[in-house]
Amino acid sequence: MLKRFFLFAAATLLFAFQLYVSSAAALELTEEARTVKVDESGKEIVLSLKEYKQGQNLFNDTCSQCHNSGRTKTNPNVTLSSADLAGAFPSRDNVKAMVDYLKEPYTYDGETEITLLHPNTTRADIFSEMKNLTDEDLKAVSGYILAQPKIRGPKFWGAGKVYN
Ligand code: HEC
Repeated sequence: MLKRFFLFAAATLLFAFQLYVSSAAALELTEEARTVKVDESGKEIVLSLKEYKQGQNLFNDTCSQCHNSGRTKTNPNVTLSSADLAGAFPSRDNVKAMVDYLKEPYTYDGETEITLLHPNTTRADIFSEMKNLTDEDLKAVSGYILAQPKIRGPKFWGAGKVYN
């Protein structure tokens, strides 16, 4: 009898915990969290839930092997955090600039084109995973990245730089 009671109590706790976790996850996708800068003028747009999901899928399929949690494998100092994106030349902390980057990437200082090194649509002949991506896809994945610091919190996105 007592054992049953404990099992029941454990099941209830687990259920309550799951409810708590899923409502927290849903809360994080508020319109506010999905609001991102669209260009360098500072104008903002709200990503639809559909665009957000599209960006998330794309990020997981095409970018996360190098950019897991917003970090950057092989160059840990150029992360996808808001601060790093803003500090690039030109700043990449808006949808338009990031879409430009995914078409034609440059080093952090804007000096050297790196289309042979970073996945981009211009050289989809070498980066075949970029071949079928439309402008809408590039916009969705950029929006997804820009929304992460608000959704996960800056400590959980692009953290762990070696130096600043
Ligand atoms: C093979 C590994 C790899 C993949 C895959 C990859 N990246 Fe990167 N990414 C890097 C590296 C390395 C850098 C730093 C480049 C440099 O030295 O300037 C970088 C830099 C960036 C930057 C500039 C960050 C900043 O702070 O200026 C953006 C934006 C970016 N990547 C987006 C993406 C997106 C979106 C995808 C998926 C479509 C992607 N990357 C896929 C390795 C990768």
